[in-house]
Order: sequence, then structure tokens, then C-alpha cells
Amino acid sequence: MNNLFSTNLNYQKLVSQFGSPLLILDKATIRYQYLALHKALPNVTLHYALKPLPLNTVVSVLKELGASFDLASNGEVDIVKSANVDPKTCIHTHPIKKDQDIKYALEYGCNVFVYDNETELEKFTKYKDQVKLLLRVSFPNPETKVDLSKKFGTTPENVLNLLQKAKDKGFNIYGLSFHVGSQVPNSKRHVEAITSCNNLINQAQDLGINISVLDIGGGFPVDYQNAEPIDIDSFCAPIREALKNTPKNVQILAEPGRFISAPAMHNICTVTGISRRFDKNWYYLDDGVYCSYSGQIFDHVCYPKFTPYNSHINVESCVLAGPTCDSIDVIAEDIKLPKLKLNDLLVGKMMGAYTIATATEFNFIPKSKIIELDLADSSSTIYTEELLNAA
Ligand SMILES: Cc1ncc(COP(=O)(O)O)c(C=O)c1O
Repeated sequence: MNNLFSTNLNYQKLVSQFGSPLLILDKATIRYQYLALHKALPNVTLHYALKPLPLNTVVSVLKELGASFDLASNGEVDIVKSANVDPKTCIHTHPIKKDQDIKYALEYGCNVFVYDNETELEKFTKYKDQVKLLLRVSFPNPETKVDLSKKFGTTPENVLNLLQKAKDKGFNIYGLSFHVGSQVPNSKRHVEAITSCNNLINQAQDLGINISVLDIGGGFPVDYQNAEPIDIDSFCAPIREALKNTPKNVQILAEPGRFISAPAMHNICTVTGISRRFDKNWYYLDDGVYCSYSGQIFDHVCYPKFTPYNSHINVESCVLAGPTCDSIDVIAEDIKLPKLKLNDLLVGKMMGAYTIATATEFNFIPKSKIIELDLADSSSTIYTEELLNAA
């Protein structure tokens, strides 16, 4: 099977044809990841969260596989709309919205929304007959650097109170949702959150509040260190067990983002300057933390980087710096690489999630160009090769 895990790209050829810097998006890797998660969670409706890689192509590829979608902004609504996605397969999960955001999603036809406080609930009063509401519950997770429960979600202790408030006001209560944090190291917190929600669903039932949906969020991790597929089936096995205790009439949803998109992009950039500073070679590149490597700042991720040359011999510690004039724009302070020359290439793997999505154009330097391939399609194999200059 050809995808970015199993196939070598001819980076030099790509740069010769399209210039530098580049982000290479592979549709086959998107499919591979979606299908692996679908297999690991067979009874869960997967809503791809657009935020890590909000591209029409990704949405179109996933739509063909029968995926559903998770939206959080009007711009994301525009993307699914332009890909002709059925709005009934979408949920809008931003816990805090303006009235015009709610209206925009409703006009598109998406009617599932999230609330986690009374002020947000009030915003839906005029749309009461149109919306289905998920109550987001917080499950803080010190095991991840992206702990989304810090900012959103009500405590489990406050859930029945907020459900009752919605019921008293005549709202259509749809269910509960949570997000235990992104890139979690194990599924322990998912299991704890599901177990807690199972209890809350039963308690709500006792109060005459019917819960139809449990949305278990995202967080499914990738292997940044080795840039290899993770054993997602083993990761999900405890989640499948915990879901066996969820009442049978409750539909399960998830909002995976990173797991589907992260492995599907490689970055290629070029050495544009070399300087000897503080006893090390500094290589100045045409991409950096203000652009494709922005995830190193916002997402706390360190991407695997290498040169597509003799990368195993004569390595030495060096610094990789980005193209802007800011001194924070350094993507590696102490990385072991062979001596590089002007115009040599540097490659970053696993760069599909929270990379170009958070890129800026600081210094008026444009964002990296995205080149789309489908490595399952023979016309894309002109950009692949057996082995990269092994010498
Ligand atoms: C509401 C919501 N859903 C889904 C996601 C995607 O999470 P992940 O990329 O960890 O799968 C996020 C990430 O921030 C989120 O905030």
C-alpha cells in the first residue's frame, strides 16, 4: 500500500518542479488513517475535526469514505459547504459562539451545537425548536500539553444541573460531549471520562432527561518520534470496553483531527544561508516557526526532521533557523545533521496537523505552498523513488 508511511518521496524532484518551501499532502495517507480508526472504533461515528488541517481536499477524501465532520467556525462551515457535505453529517462543537455563528451554521443546515454554561444556553433561546444540544463536560488531563478541559466544559458535578436547566427551558437535549486533550499518551482519560458519562447518562435518565448521544471527542495520538503508524487498535481497546457499559440506545460520536491529518503531510524547505555562530553551524531555512513549524510553538510538538542525503554519516550538532528576522524563529537548537550546503533540502515528517493551520505571514513571508498527491494513484508515483541517494 502506497502512502507517506510506506513510500519515499523524491523531494528534490518536487522542489525542482514546485519550488520551496512546500507541504506535500497525500490523500492516500488521509484514507489510511481514517480507515484504521474506523476499524478500531467500528460503532463510533467519526466526525473529522477540521481545525488541524482545514482543507477542501481532506474533506472531499473523507466524505467519499462516508465520514462525518466537526466544525468550529464559519470558515469551516464554508469548507464543508464547498465540498457539498450533507450538513446533517456535521456537528458544531465550539462551546462559545456569537449569535451570527449560530445563525450561519443553522443556515447551512448544521443543527447540533455544544454548550457548557448558562450564558451559552440562553443564546439558543430563539433557535430552540431548531437545535439539538450537547453539553460539554470537562475532564482535565495533566498527561497532555494540550489540555482542552482547562478552557471548556462544565464539571461532572454540574452536569445534571445544566441538563435540568436546558430541560426546564424546553430545549432538545441531545447528549454529552468531552475532549480529554490532544495527543494523549494513552486512553486512560478517555476511559475515565466515558465511565463518568455513563453514570451521568443513567442519572439523567432517572430525572426524565433522555440522552441520545455521547461524543468522546478527539485526542487520538500519532507517533511523532518515529513517524510510524501507531497501534490504534490497542489504543482504542480500553475505549471499546468502556463503551460496552454505555446504555445501548446512546449513539457514540468522536471528533478525531490530528490522528487523521498529522501523518498526511511532509514539509520540504531549503537552506538559504549558513553562518558559524557560538561554535555551531547555523542553517537558515525558507520555512520556520512562523509558518509550517508553528506547531512547535502552539501545539508543543517536535517534528522529526532529516536531510534526504547521507544522513547517517559525519553528523554534527547544528542549529536550524527560520526565515523571519525574529530570534524565536529557530526550529532546532541542537540537532545532529550532516554538514549542509546552500540549497540543500530539509524534510519534516508528520506535519499535517496544527502546522499550516496555525501558520502566519509574519515579515510578509508567504505561507508554504501545498502540493496534493495521491500515492495510491499511479500518476503520483512520478514523485516517489525506491531509496533516497543512499551512499
Ligand atoms: C472541540 C474539539 N474537537 C476536536 C478536536 C481535535 O482534537 P485532536 O486533534 O486531538 O483529535 C479539538 C482540538 O482542539 C477540539 O477542540
